[in-house]
Amino acid sequence: TERIIIEDTHRIDAGKLERAAEILREGGLVAFPTETVYGLGANALDEEAAKKIYAAKGRPSDNPLIAHIADFSDLKPLVAEIPAAAGKLMEAFWPGPLTLIFPKSDAVPYGTTGGLDTVAVRMPSDPVAMTLIRLAGVPVAAPSANTSGRPSPTTADHVWQDMNGKIDMIVDGGPVGIGVESTIIDVSGEYPVILRPGAITQEMAGEVLGMEIGLDPAITGDGPMNADVKPKAPGMKYKHYAPKADLTLVEGTPADVVRTINHLAGKKLEAGYRVGIICTDETMELYPDGMVRSLGLRAREETIAHNLYAVLREFDDLEADYIYSESFSADHLGQAIMNRLKKAAGYHMIKVTALSSKRPH
Ligand code: TXA
Ligand code: MG
Repeated sequence: TERIIIEDTHRIDAGKLERAAEILREGGLVAFPTETVYGLGANALDEEAAKKIYAAKGRPSDNPLIAHIADFSDLKPLVAEIPAAAGKLMEAFWPGPLTLIFPKSDAVPYGTTGGLDTVAVRMPSDPVAMTLIRLAGVPVAAPSANTSGRPSPTTADHVWQDMNGKIDMIVDGGPVGIGVESTIIDVSGEYPVILRPGAITQEMAGEVLGMEIGLDPAITGDGPMNADVKPKAPGMKYKHYAPKADLTLVEGTPADVVRTINHLAGKKLEAGYRVGIICTDETMELYPDGMVRSLGLRAREETIAHNLYAVLREFDDLEADYIYSESFSADHLGQAIMNRLKKAAGYHMIKVTALSSKRPH
């Protein structure tokens, strides 16, 4: 696997990306940065290239890929129709961390859409991604560039850990900005529905459309144990973003959460386990024992999103057996953060209520 570094992402030397673009045109695999997470790219119109993505990630082939484009004119050939709601959302949020699900055109092979008659399309704002897609001259199918089941990569080193030897090239454009995957909104049905929360929040999209946008019940529900609720984004049904350790999310008032985590961590430490604690800058000093990592400032949730996957990967490297994590409000960006944390925890959550909080002493 070749690795090239883009030093200055504001003044990109396109010559450096020529080879990457050529690999994509020829049906190879190139990992590249986007503003959300690193993607593992292949020509979206080439079924054989898509197959290589599934093989490199170890990903089930019924899980469809997002086609990435660099210009608005690239959309039309991929879709059968552009619904009015999509037009408004694209105008407001493209290029950016928003993926839209359209009825697909015949040009898009079923190998890219996991057999579905719809296609996911996104125009990323990252300048390296944009330049690469434009140079390639083809839409670029790109899932997150992690091994299936691991946290999405937010640095080129994360990609290297998972993909070295399995793909043709990694374009290193430094750490990503946002840190969680794009918001997915299905605009192919009667009403728009959010299939995956992200940095374009439910509130932001609702404001643009002048209506409240529903969430796929698989997001709001408390997990796949509820077998009746089948997620509309096939990828959301797999245990995703999973750290190797047993992760538990603790909810309650800040004081109750700190006390409960210290109590639970203390018991596991006494038993000889390696214990990680995921907290925030505001509370970091309140955890005396265990491997304590802050995600950032609770008061600035974009810092939490930015660091989340790197911290989960670090606990894999540290071989933590148990991880206890604080939780976040489910509004705005917190909705995306809690969605990823709940999935990482396999929906294992403890709610500390006024009554139960007296117990752990
Ligand atoms: O931010 C992102 O979206 C990143 C970067 C690289 O752009 N990509 C990403 O791709 O997160 P991936 O493959 O890890 O997640 C794509 C999600 C999956 O859950 C998949 O099931 C869903 O999008 N999806 C793709 N096409 C779909 C379709 N036609 N209908 C419903 N869900 C779809
Ligand atoms: Mg992914």
